[in-house]
Order: sequence, then C-alpha cells, then structure tokens
Amino acid sequence: MNKFIPISEPSITDKEIQYVLDAIKSGWVSSIGEYITKFEQKFAEYIDVKYALTTCNGTTALHLALVSLGIKEGDEVLIPDLTFVATANAVVYTGAKPVFVDIDPEIWCIDPEDIRRKITKNTKAIIPVHLYGHPADMDTINEIVEEYGLYVIEDAAESHGAEYKGKKVGSLGTCGIFSFYGNKVITTGEGGIIATNDERLYEQAKFLRDHAMSKEKRYWHTEVGFNYRMTNLQAALGLAQLERIEELINKKRQIFMWYKKFLTDIKGIKLNPEKDWVKNVFWMICLFLEKNFGITRDELMLKLKEKGIDTRPFFYPISKMPMYKGCCKNPVASDISNKGLNLPSGFNLSKQDIFMISKDLKEIISSVR
Ligand SMILES: Cc1ncc(COP(=O)(O)O)c(C=O)c1O
Repeated sequence: MNKFIPISEPSITDKEIQYVLDAIKSGWVSSIGEYITKFEQKFAEYIDVKYALTTCNGTTALHLALVSLGIKEGDEVLIPDLTFVATANAVVYTGAKPVFVDIDPEIWCIDPEDIRRKITKNTKAIIPVHLYGHPADMDTINEIVEEYGLYVIEDAAESHGAEYKGKKVGSLGTCGIFSFYGNKVITTGEGGIIATNDERLYEQAKFLRDHAMSKEKRYWHTEVGFNYRMTNLQAALGLAQLERIEELINKKRQIFMWYKKFLTDIKGIKLNPEKDWVKNVFWMICLFLEKNFGITRDELMLKLKEKGIDTRPFFYPISKMPMYKGCCKNPVASDISNKGLNLPSGFNLSKQDIFMISKDLKEIISSVR
C-alpha cells in the first residue's frame, strides 16, 4: 500500500507560527487585538472592497449577512441545490425558506435561467456559490438582481482569490462571505468574513456580531444579537496566510495542471472547468465520470481508498436531504452530484505524489474496461 494521501492539508510555515505566538504572548487572546484589525483591513484590500468583518466561521458569516439585510420568516432565498449544506442552513436560521435552484452543467454553479423560473413575490435574495473555486456567472445574476430588486450574497467560502472578469469574487454583489476552515485556500482554523462596500450593512453586521451592544452605553443591548466573533489568535494565523495567498493559489493551480497533464489520456472523464472569463483557484480537484464510464463513482472511491488515496464525493443535492425531501427536482444537480468526486488537493502534494495518484487511477480504470 502507498503512503496515505489525505484529501486536504493546510500549508503552515514559520510565518504562521510566529504570528500566532506573537498574538498569544501579547495576551490579546480573545476577540480584541491588532491582528483582527489588520486581517480585516488587508482582506478588504485584497478583495477590493471597503469593509471586511471577521466572524467565527463561514456559516455564521452567511447567517449574519442575511440577518443584517433583514431577511426573515416569510422570505425566500434562492440558492444552488449543489453546495455545502451551510448555505441552506444559514437561510433556515433566519426563518426564511431556501429555494433550491438547479446548476449550470458546465460550471456547476447556480443556473441563471432556473433562477428566473424560481423567483416569486417573496424572493428577497440570491446566494450564488462559487463552487470548488470556479466563479458563478455574476453578470447574468446581477442583471436579474437589478430587475427584481434583490440582494446578492456571494458564497465565496471555497474561492478566495478567484476572479470573475478580472474582479475578485466576494466583491461583486451586495456582500460576499468566505470561510477559513482548515481545508480552505487560506485558513484560520475555523473562521469566516463578510466583505462588502455597503457601510450600513457592515455597521449592522458589526453591531449584531457583538450581541447588539449599544455604541453609546456599554452592556446595554437593544436587540437580540450574537457572539459570532473571531479571536485574535485565529486572525494572526489568517494574516500570515493572507500574506502568502498568491503562493497558495499558485500551488492550487499547479496541482490542477499536474493532474491535467497526467490524466489527459483517460477517455470519459472531466476535470474542473475554467471558463475563459474566470480565474479558477481549484480549491478542490474535481473528477467527473461521464455516462457509462465502466465503474461507478463510489466503486472508484473505494478502490482508491484501498490504495491509500483519500477522496470525497461531490456534495449531494440539498433538496434530497431528509429535511427537504420531495420539495423539488433539479436534474442537473442530481446528475453532476452522482458522478463527481474530489481527488487529493492538499498544499503539500508534490508532482511525484500526483503522478502516483494518477498512475493508480489509470490502473483501476484499465482493470474494469
Ligand atoms: C459553499 C460553502 N458555504 C459555506 C461554508 C461554511 O463555512 P464554515 O465551515 O466555515 O462554517 C462552506 C464550508 O465548508 C462551504 O463550502
């Protein structure tokens, strides 16, 4: 058996260790501290927005953004059916209803035509997800948003630094949210951020993030808020990662290029898309098996596991999960979900590792064909 190759690994260098150590030594271990301010400022600069507000994870960033925009019971929020469940859960926490939209078969992100079909008088917002590092079709989505007067919250949890027509995702809607979970392009361990140009939204989110404490009178609370703050220790890790983001994105792109090179002669597969109007950050390497491939996605994952290669299935359509079962049918999301898997995508992978993974993959495939 080969050495075990995990699906994902962060890249932690002396810089990260130094910054975190410095934060601990400073005594500012909770949610006040220089690293929080610096991380927020530098992240806003990086995305090219006016404001960035850290949170304790990406799910709370989504929830906080929705609540701060006034999304509530009776409202509907359109989300792609194929995404991590957090996108839907954050909507449900507000009391609003998530409405599941089918995806574009080429880029696997929310399908603008299906958005149009699913808008009702109760629709208040759309959450496009830039899935696996590929941006959604933001111009078309923004046209619809303008036509109907909706909010757009970009779920950029998986796509730090990805670009749509030369602009960073997260800067293209009412606001964007990011996750800094350990497997993301940059990490703070757990963490999230809301990026926006809207001062009112930023101020409201900041207020609600801190239990809605009055600015004028400490410990006086005028509404029910949350503790969704990030710690200074997490922000220290995040700042070090942010200072290395170009290197990290280049490594993700390099990993994709290596897979592309080594898997080029396998018929009936597709890897991540990259339209010519985007820069994909290839957060996770995606392998899609076309119809009648000869082995199912799940069988292939099992055989790779026997060889010590970790994989994960594509997300399942959320509309098929027990809480929403029978609510709707999204055929493209179902088809893509059934046939897709993620290959090891960690920062520590070498060209040799990817050569070996590809060799094992080819051996498995040729044994069943
Ligand atoms: C698309 C998407 N949205 C939201 C989240 C939630 O982020 P977190 O895990 O930091 O709460 C994730 C995280 O994995 C995600 O992939």
